[in-house]
Amino acid sequence: MKVRDSGMPEQNYWESLFDIAGILNGLEINQEIADAVEVGCGYGTFTLPVARRIRGTLHSFDIEADMVATTLARARDSGVLNVRAAVRDVVASGFDLPPDSVDAVLLFNILHAENPTQLLQAAATVVRPHGRVLAIHWRSDLETPRGPDLSIRPRPEQIVTWGCSVGLAPEKNVLLPPWHFGVVLRRRK
Ligand SMILES: C[S@@+](CC[C@H](N)C(=O)[O-])C[C@H]1O[C@@H](n2cnc3c(N)ncnc32)[C@H](O)[C@@H]1O
Repeated sequence: MKVRDSGMPEQNYWESLFDIAGILNGLEINQEIADAVEVGCGYGTFTLPVARRIRGTLHSFDIEADMVATTLARARDSGVLNVRAAVRDVVASGFDLPPDSVDAVLLFNILHAENPTQLLQAAATVVRPHGRVLAIHWRSDLETPRGPDLSIRPRPEQIVTWGCSVGLAPEKNVLLPPWHFGVVLRRRK
C-alpha cells in the first residue's frame, strides 16, 4: 500500500528543498557504514549522495516503478555502481533482506505512514545489532513549503517513542535546515 500523501512534486523543485550534504553530515552518513537500506527512494535525491559516502551497497526500494527507473538511470549516468534499486511495496512486503544484515536504514520523509511502527519494526529487524535507523521529516514548528498535513506529520519525540517500542534506542535528534529534523536511533542488541 502506498504511504498516504507520498506523491512527489516536480524533481527540481523537490531537490531545491534540501541541503543534502548538510543532512548527510548531520546524520553522520559516512564510510563507517557498509551496506544500508533506503525506504522510498523517490527521485534518488538522497540515494546517489548516500551511495557515494558508504563503503557497501545501498538497497533502495520504491513502490513506484518510475521512481526506481529514475534512480537507477541517475546512478548509471553518474557511474555510481553500488545502488541496488527495486520496485517493492515495503509496507506490504518488508525489505526482502536477511535480518541483522545492514549497518543503517534510511527512513526519509516516509514516517507519516499509516503505520509507522510497522516500518520501524522492519528497519529494526534488518539492521544489525548496534546499527542505526536514520529518520528525517519536515518540521512542524515552522511553516514549510511542502510536507504532509500537520495532523499526520510526525514529530521527533513521536519517532523516538515509536522507535523505543520496537527495540531502538534514541541516540540524537538534530535540526537539518532549512526545513527538516533528523532522529538517530540505534538498535540495542
Ligand atoms: C515523500 S517521497 C520521499 C522520497 C525520498 N525518500 C526523499 O526524501 O527524497 C516518498 C516515497 O516513498 C514511496 N513510497 C510510498 N509508499 C511506499 C511503499 N509502500 N513502499 C515503497 N515505497 C513507497 C513513494 O512512491 C515516494 O517516492
